[in-house]
Parts: sequence; structure tokens; C-alpha cells
Amino acid sequence: MTAPKYRELADMILSEIAGAPVGTPTLSERQLADQTGVSRMTARRAIDELVRQGLLTREVGRGTFVARRVVTVPLQLTSFTEDMRARGYEPSSRVLGFETAPAGDQAAAVFGIEPADSMIVLSRLRLADGIPMAIERSHLRAAAFPGLDSYDFSHDSLYSVLTERYGVLFDAGEQVIRAGIVHDEDAATLGVPTGAPVLELIRTSESHGRVVEWTTSTYPAARLELSARIAPATAPGSEPRSALRVRR
Ligand code: GLP
Repeated sequence: MTAPKYRELADMILSEIAGAPVGTPTLSERQLADQTGVSRMTARRAIDELVRQGLLTREVGRGTFVARRVVTVPLQLTSFTEDMRARGYEPSSRVLGFETAPAGDQAAAVFGIEPADSMIVLSRLRLADGIPMAIERSHLRAAAFPGLDSYDFSHDSLYSVLTERYGVLFDAGEQVIRAGIVHDEDAATLGVPTGAPVLELIRTSESHGRVVEWTTSTYPAARLELSARIAPATAPGSEPRSALRVRR
């Protein structure tokens, strides 16, 4: 089934405005129709669709502009699926890869296993209302999750599968947040220009003292805001709950 014409046009506008600063003016209905050869009605539908998705704003008498679209995600041990649904967005995924390979030194150190032990790497594009939000690369110990390859992670939530099928009870975790520049190979998938700023959320989630998952989520910086409840500073002598680390 081919996408309706207005949807194709909306996708085209989307790739043109990706990475454009908030407030950038976009083509009018008439300009769009003239440039692409579609009818004014199709051009209007495409713009309406993007306005509905919150990607463009229409200002009476002035035109249409790139809107600020930011999803606020809490700093909690919740899944992408839960976070997006809680904010009224429909989550979906595209599986970019599912591989089993030796862990290597870095993953082995994170999981406390041998570098030669098998590791699953699941890579997905995560979308909210069809808009690319993040690329997630999840590492899991192959020995702990036999049969994981039988799930269709374009539909299934990883956390639901881990808890419902494998009985995992997440009870702790850590999340490091880093600013960076999008990797060249991820830019097109995320719909941002090369060199666009990103936020990397690197999560290790644990169950009974063992690391279950090590995931890097790469969000275009313009699409994500993080929020955390903050508490009074911990009493002298007790462990700090978070730390600012200086990157060198
Ligand atoms: C969040 C976490 C990831 C986790 C993912 C699971 O995005 N930061 O570490 O892998 O949720 O999401 P889901 O259960 O929707 O597949």
C-alpha cells in the first residue's frame, strides 16, 4: 500500500525542516503546491497534519513556522513505551539490527562477564506518533535470555518481554546523560542533519545486583527534555545519589 500523497508531502516537509531552528518559516500552501505540482488541497492537508502533530505552528496572517516539539521524559526506571504513552504519544519502533556477538572488553566490564561471552545487541529506531525520537542500542547477556530473538521488537516492548517472559524485576539502575554530536550513520535515520546535537542516555538497569541491560539511547537534542524530582542534599557522611562527572 502506498502512502497517500499528502503523507508523502508531509514526510518531505519533515525532512526539510529537520534540524531547523524553532520559528523558521516554512513554505506556504501555494508555494508548496507550485513547487511540487500537488493541488492546494493536498498541500493544505500535509501542513494540517504537521500542525496536528505539533511539528509546525500556524500563526494567523503570518504563516507557518517550525514549532518547538520537546518530549519531557522523567528520570525513572521506565520504558520508552511507558514514557511515550504517559505523555499521550503512540510509541512504535523499527528494528535496525539484532545480533549476537562476543561481548568485548567494555560490555564485559559492565556486565561482569568474560569478553568472549555472548552478548545480544538490539538496535531500534524509536518513534512517537511516527516521529523519530531516538536510536536505542541495547546490550543483554545472551545466556540470560534464550529465545529473545523470537520476539518482534518492532511491536514488543523490551521491558514487557523481560518482565513477563523472563521474570526480570528491575530494582535499580543508573543513567548517564551526555551531550554529543549525531553519528553520521544515525543522522538520516533520525531525520537530522549531520553534525546535529544529540543527548545520549546511557542506562544500566539491574535486578538483584546484576546488570540486566546496558542501553544507549541517542535523542536529537531538540526533541528531548529530561526532568527529575530533586530532594534536599543528603546528610553528611551518607552516599550522594547522583554525581556530576567531568569529561576529559
Ligand atoms: C527506555 C530506556 C532503555 C530501555 C527502553 C525499553 O528507553 N532508556 O534503557 O531499553 O526504555 O523500552 P521498551 O520497553 O519500550 O522497548
